Amino acid sequence: MTRPANAALGTELSLPRPMKIGVAKEIKPDEYRVALTPAGARELVLGGHEVLVETSAGEGSAFADAVYAAVGARIVGIDDVWSDAELLLKVKEPLPAEYRRIRDDLVLFTYLHLAATEELTRALLESGATCVAYETVETNARALPLLAPMSEVAGRLAAQAGAYFLEKPLGGRGLLLGGIAGVAPGNVVVIGGGIVGYNAAVIALGLGANVTVLERSIDRMRHLDEVLSGRLSLVMSSRLQIEESVADADVVIGAVLIPGARAPKLVTREMIATMKDGSVLCDVAIDQGGCAETSRPTTHSEPVYTVDGVIHYCVANMPGAVPVTSTKALTNATLPYIEAIADRGLRAAVVGDPALARGVNVLGGHVTYEAVAEAHGLEYRPLEELLPLSPV
Ligand SMILES: NC(=O)c1ccc[n+]([C@@H]2O[C@H](COP(=O)([O-])OP(=O)(O)OC[C@H]3O[C@@H](n4cnc5c(N)ncnc54)[C@H](O)[C@@H]3O)[C@@H](O)[C@H]2O)c1
Repeated sequence: MTRPANAALGTELSLPRPMKIGVAKEIKPDEYRVALTPAGARELVLGGHEVLVETSAGEGSAFADAVYAAVGARIVGIDDVWSDAELLLKVKEPLPAEYRRIRDDLVLFTYLHLAATEELTRALLESGATCVAYETVETNARALPLLAPMSEVAGRLAAQAGAYFLEKPLGGRGLLLGGIAGVAPGNVVVIGGGIVGYNAAVIALGLGANVTVLERSIDRMRHLDEVLSGRLSLVMSSRLQIEESVADADVVIGAVLIPGARAPKLVTREMIATMKDGSVLCDVAIDQGGCAETSRPTTHSEPVYTVDGVIHYCVANMPGAVPVTSTKALTNATLPYIEAIADRGLRAAVVGDPALARGVNVLGGHVTYEAVAEAHGLEYRPLEELLPLSPV
């Protein structure tokens, strides 16, 4: 397929020109985030670009249309935001109602999670659009800068949820997690000391709990020891250690990740049966299947259920509960990439930044991200074959 000349893609030879950047309103149920804040819109407008914000796109995150308009964005209807934008920003993957709006000369920048959905992958291939996924933007050091902020939010929320559901009227043990002078605090056990685990530990410590983090990476434990030195117990994760720690816990937070795989079932049904009545399991890893055998996904409207007297909190999209914070956290991380694409065109932007290049999942009817092609038995075409990546 021949690519049309397009400012967003940056394939034409002329110098970069101002770009039309659209911000669509999310239509997924219970999704209140927006892909650009007024602060971000202001930066782009000052950079000479045209920003089109769909009516009420920011409402769920407490950003009124008037605030976007005041910084120079244009408020437009749904048809115009999709048809006029060269670079379209979203938070969640397009839903079927949006498929027909995706054009071959559009660059779409959003969470996509294509390995999990063949229907969407095929719709994007048919559209001919260029689709850049937040979740696969990956630095040379293997960090995922556009996933990390959501893990920070989820980790902090997990500790809060643990403390909250320990309250008696909510079915919990009736324990104040931080204790008071003369009354011992509760025990929080965090399995996995990555971004979620660190943030859960920070808030649990802040509440005054006894915190134990089980990790299997020694380097990661050294790092946690350095930054949280002396304030928590760091323990090598093993089956025996998990068994002992879980039995003694008031709150267990599941925060493991094995990249590219389902979460390992580290907490067995038998271990859950050894926990105290009214204790709480927050399985943050539920979006990867969960790390307890008894975990199944829940929603914000019905966040918990009970197994063997243990309250299970397994909300798969925890950051959705705090859209004001989550929108700012996400857009703090996405804005530099948005600016790079807007200022230079996608081609020059990916040439200048291999992390962004790894974000390109679909281009001109081809899958350019190997794991997505493998997941659906589709042909994989390396990005550099389709969009020459030699310096421009
Ligand atoms: N539910 C939600 O809303 C939500 C939001 C954000 C992230 N998450 C999920 O939370 C999980 C953790 O994400 P993260 O960003 O912290 O990942 P991360 O890669 O930063 O951390 C994962 C940690 O788990 C450790 N680990 C792996 N196997 C282990 C084992 N057997 N025992 C102990 N530790 C082990 C790794 O060494 C690593 O330090 C992921 O599944 C992620 O998808 C869920």
